[in-house]
Amino acid sequence: MTQHRIALIPGDGIGAEVLPPACAVLDLVGKRHGLTFGYDEFDWSCARYLNEGAMMPADGLDRIRRHDAILLGAVGWPCVPDHVSLWGLLIPIRRLFRQYVNLRPITVLDGVPSPLRHAASGAVDFVVVRENVEGEYSEIGGRLNRGFPEEMAVQEAVFTRAGVSRVLDHAFRLAASRRGGITSATKSNGIVHTMPFWDELVAEYAARYPEVDCGQEHIDALVAKIVLDPGRFDVIVGSNLFGDILSDLAAAVAGSIGIAPAANLNPEGEFPSMFEPVHGSAPDIAGQGIANPIGAIWSASMMLDHLGHPEAAGEVMAAVRTVLADTAVRTPDLGGTASTDDFTRAVLDALP
Ligand code: NAI
Ligand code: MG
Repeated sequence: MTQHRIALIPGDGIGAEVLPPACAVLDLVGKRHGLTFGYDEFDWSCARYLNEGAMMPADGLDRIRRHDAILLGAVGWPCVPDHVSLWGLLIPIRRLFRQYVNLRPITVLDGVPSPLRHAASGAVDFVVVRENVEGEYSEIGGRLNRGFPEEMAVQEAVFTRAGVSRVLDHAFRLAASRRGGITSATKSNGIVHTMPFWDELVAEYAARYPEVDCGQEHIDALVAKIVLDPGRFDVIVGSNLFGDILSDLAAAVAGSIGIAPAANLNPEGEFPSMFEPVHGSAPDIAGQGIANPIGAIWSASMMLDHLGHPEAAGEVMAAVRTVLADTAVRTPDLGGTASTDDFTRAVLDALP
C-alpha cells in the first residue's frame, strides 16, 4: 500500500463542488493500484478573507509543505478584488513552492464538439507550458501621483536566465517525449529587451535538442494560428502572461473551460506540486450542482501521473473519454442535463 497525503483547498464557489468528484475518482482508482489518499482540507478562500482578513493563515504554507501534492478547486468571489484573492493564495503557493512550470494539456475529446470547424476530436492534442513564477507578473513597479493628472503606473517584467532556462528545459524534454515539436511564443518585434533575451535562450535549447523541431511565433500571429489550425501544435512554451492567455484560448478550443486541467509543477520535488482546474469559481452557476467536474478530475489524473502512477492516471482519463464518447451523460456546459453527481457516478462506473 502506498499512502499519499493530499492538501485539499476547495476555495470558492464551484471549487467546493468539483473537488469531491476528483477525490471519489482517486479513491476508487487507487484501490486497484494499491494507493490510499489521506486528505487534509483547508478552508482558505474569499469567505475566510471576509471573516478573518486573510485568504490563508500566516503559517499557511508551512501547514501544507510536507504534503505529497495539493488539489485546488477555484479561488475568487465577486466581493473580494481578484488581485487580492490571487496574490493572497495562489501566487504565494506557486512562487514559494517553486512551481515554475504550469502545464496545461489541450485535447479535443470525442463527444465534446470544439467551436472551431477544423478541430476534430483526435486531431488536436497539444500542451501549453507556461512559465509560472516570474516574467510579466512581478511585484516590481509602483504608482505615483495618485489622483493628479500626472498619475502613473510602472510595472516591470522580470526575465532571468535561470528562470527561463528551467522552464525551457522542461518544455524541450516534454516535446522530445511527445511528437517532437515545440513552438515558442514571443513578441521580440515589439518588446525589445526581455523577448529577444527569451528568443536567445530558446535558440540555445533548440541547439541542445536537435531532435526537437523548434519554431517561434509572435503571440499575435500565434493566437490566430491556434484558431485556424490547432492540430499543428505539439508543445507551446510561453512566458507567464503569454502562457496564461494561450491556455484559456486553448481551453475554449477544446470545447469548454469546464474540462481544462492544469498542473503547477515543482519538477525537483522539493515542494508539493499543485493541481487545479483552469476554470474559476463560476459564481453564475455555483450552488446549483451542475458544475462540470472534468477539469478537476483531469487535474487529479495529472496528479497521479506526477506521483508516479501513470497507469492509474491513464485509467481515469480513459473512463472520462468513455463516458463522453459512449453516453449522453454530460453537464449543461456541454449541452447535457446531467448534474455534477450524475456525471461523476458515470465516470466511477466506467473505471475498470
Ligand atoms: P469562471 O471560469 O469562473 O467562469 C467563466 C464561465 O465559464 C462562467 O459562465 C461559468 O459558469 C463557466 N464555467 C467555468 N467553470 C465551469 C465548470 N466547471 N462547469 C460549467 N461551467 C463552468 O471565470 P470568471 O467568471 O471570469 O471568474 C469567476 C471568479 O473565479 C473570479 O473571482 C476569478 O478571479 C476567479 N478565477 C479563479 C481561477 C483560479 O482559481 N485559478 C481562474 C479563473 C478565475
Ligand atoms: Mg488565466
